Amino acid sequence: MTLVAVWLHVLGVVVWMGGVMYQAHVLLPMARRGDVAAFALAARRGRPVAWTALAIVVLTGFYNVTRLGPLDRVMQSGAALLLAGKFGLVLVLATLAGRRDFGEVTRLNRLVASGGDPTSALGAIAWLDRIALLLGVVIVYLGLAISRS
Ligand code: HEM
Repeated sequence: MTLVAVWLHVLGVVVWMGGVMYQAHVLLPMARRGDVAAFALAARRGRPVAWTALAIVVLTGFYNVTRLGPLDRVMQSGAALLLAGKFGLVLVLATLAGRRDFGEVTRLNRLVASGGDPTSALGAIAWLDRIALLLGVVIVYLGLAISRS
């Protein structure tokens, strides 16, 4: 069960980060060169996959916490501190991902439908993706550090 939970945790991370990476580095540059409608649709359609993956990551993450062992050992090894830092960054990440998917992507789809200028929405999504990926990289490091502490 413990191995299955870590497996699901890592799979969820791969799916979420892979999706953001592909959108940020492949689809978004194409949208900036003209095909905004296709990107707006892809970003909207990507939401259920991304949020299901994030939910799996968070749920299995909490389960993983219960499998770390006795509390005094978790405190002494430094895992508790790493976990606190990781949890704080996950909160920031989830807030930014929500702003991106339900704020900016919704705004972009509205602009595309009404024929408005999508430049600022695309710019905001690009920045939110960069920050989310950076946070993701740090959080992955913290996850690996926790499991090896
Ligand atoms: C509330 C959210 C989360 C909690 C409570 C949590 C908790 C944990 C715990 C306790 C472990 C250690 C598992 C073990 O050694 O048995 C772990 C591992 C890991 N976590 Fe998370 N996590 C969360 C979210 C995330 C996120 C968002 C990412 C990446 C973006 C992530 C990436 C990883 C990775 C890569 C590992 C290493 C797996 C391994 O090799 O053992 N976690 N997490």
